[in-house]
Amino acid sequence: MEFYEAIRRRSSVREFTDEAIPEETLRRIIAAAYQAPANDHFRDWHFIAVTDKTVMREVLEGVPKNLTVKDVDQMTFISDPVQKESYRFAVPKQYSMLMNAAAVIIPLMKKKVDVLHPADLSHLNCFASVWCSIENLWLAATAEGCGCNLRIPCGSEEETARQATGFPEEYMIPCFIGIGRPAADAVRTKQLVPDLEKQLHWQKF
Ligand SMILES: Cc1cc2nc3c(=O)[nH]c(=O)nc-3n(C[C@H](O)[C@H](O)[C@H](O)COP(=O)(O)O)c2cc1C
Repeated sequence: MEFYEAIRRRSSVREFTDEAIPEETLRRIIAAAYQAPANDHFRDWHFIAVTDKTVMREVLEGVPKNLTVKDVDQMTFISDPVQKESYRFAVPKQYSMLMNAAAVIIPLMKKKVDVLHPADLSHLNCFASVWCSIENLWLAATAEGCGCNLRIPCGSEEETARQATGFPEEYMIPCFIGIGRPAADAVRTKQLVPDLEKQLHWQKF
């Protein structure tokens, strides 16, 4: 797929077919993650690809299963109607979008600094770098005809996934990634389209 076409087609996919993704395809997609820029040259990220439904269920045990649009309506930080519509669709799917994916990919980054209490911006470099790898992965998945979604683990979700997969204490999960073949009628939520003419500045703001 042409590069800009992959960029245009990438979107969050939360509904999948039952088709498995071949291991070779997952390998290519994860190899693309390692082509991302990294602050310290190490790229010492790990990725756990969970394709076994029993392990997946254990990994996702902490993810809320019963969220509804009513929960969204109580979220006071949502101000825009398009944003709200997108949350009303996505929030109730937090568990199913991962559990019904062909694989859940768990990126892992080494906790070299306390990213939750950074002393300055450079302390977040390792976190920024792993997110570059996640975007590479997502675009590669799109080019392979797959769809992805993301969930940020909250509360005990990370610890539950650690217990289920046995990754060491020194690693943290930036997000869970659900990946699979998009269902024919998979919803692509409407997005606000930034106005380049207003947001792109030449020379001065
Ligand atoms: C840092 C980050 C955190 C996100 N967290 C979640 C999440 O917890 N659950 C979810 O369903 N989507 C999550 N998303 C996906 C966004 O909702 C989605 O990318 C956004 O609405 C734009 O839609 P699109 O991906 O279809 O273009 C996250 C995306 C990013 C970049």
